[in-house]
Amino acid sequence: MLILIAGITGMVGQPCSEATISQSHQTELSRGVDAVICAYGFLPEVSVEGQLMLLRATERAGVKIFHTASWNYDWTLGYLGQHEAYDPYLAFHTQVRISSRIKPLFMFTGRIAEWLFSNRRDKIWDRETQTLPCFWICTTASDIAAYTLEAICAPGADEGGFIRVESFRFTPTQFVEAYERARSGKVSAHLKYQGSVDDVVEMLKRARETIHPVNLEEYIG
Ligand SMILES: NC(=O)c1ccc[n+]([C@@H]2O[C@H](COP(=O)([O-])OP(=O)(O)OC[C@H]3O[C@@H](n4cnc5c(N)ncnc54)[C@H](OP(=O)(O)O)[C@@H]3O)[C@@H](O)[C@H]2O)c1
Repeated sequence: MLILIAGITGMVGQPCSEATISQSHQTELSRGVDAVICAYGFLPEVSVEGQLMLLRATERAGVKIFHTASWNYDWTLGYLGQHEAYDPYLAFHTQVRISSRIKPLFMFTGRIAEWLFSNRRDKIWDRETQTLPCFWICTTASDIAAYTLEAICAPGADEGGFIRVESFRFTPTQFVEAYERARSGKVSAHLKYQGSVDDVVEMLKRARETIHPVNLEEYIG
C-alpha cells in the first residue's frame, strides 16, 4: 500500500511513518497513493484550511481513504462553540460531510501519553510547580501509529467513521502510585485538589473574557 503522510515530521507523523515502513508499506509524496494520513498539527488554520485543501487534492487524485488529523478526546460529545480546541475538528467534519464524497476516518485516543510530559506550548506538565492535570484516557504514540495503520488498511476504510481506541486509563490515585513505582520510591507524588467543576467553569469564563480566542492555547488546556 502506498501511503501519503502529510505532517510527517510531527509528533504523530513520525511514529506513523515508522509503523508504515516497518509493515513494508511505502510512504510517498507523489501521485498514485492508496491512502492519505493527515497528521497536521493543532493550529486551527492548519486543521481546517490546510486539511481541507489536502482533502480536495486527495479527491481530485481519486484517492478514497483519508485519515484526518484527530487523535483527540471524543469531540462528537460536544458541539461547535463549546470548546475552542475542538471547534476546528467539528468544523472540518461538518464541512466535509456536505461538500465531499470522501468519508474520512477520525480517531479518538484520549491524551497522547508522551504529550503529558512534553515541553509544548500549552504546558500540560508544569515544570515550575511540577503539577499535572489529570487525564484518564491515554494512548501512546506507537499505539496511535499502529491503530491508524490498521484503520486505513481495514476493509471498508473508505467508508470512514469514528474510531475509539486507548492504550490505558487511570484514576488520579493510580497515576500517583504508578509514578512513585516508576521512580522506585525515590520521589513522592501527591494528589492535590485544585477545585470543583464549577471552579473550572468559572476559570474558563474569566479566561474567555480576558484572553483573545486567537490565543486559545493560553487557557484552553
Ligand atoms: N490528544 C492529545 O494529547 C494530542 C496531543 C498532540 C497532538 N494531538 C493531535 O494530533 C494531531 C497531530 O498533532 P502533532 O502534535 O503531531 O503536530 P506537530 O508535532 O505540531 O506536527 C505538525 C506537522 O504539521 C505540519 N504543519 C504545520 N503547519 C503546517 C502548514 N501550515 N502547512 C503544512 N504542514 C504544516 C508540520 O510540518 P513542518 O515540520 O514542515 O512544520 C508537522 O509535520 C493534531 O490533530 C493534534 O490535535 C493530540
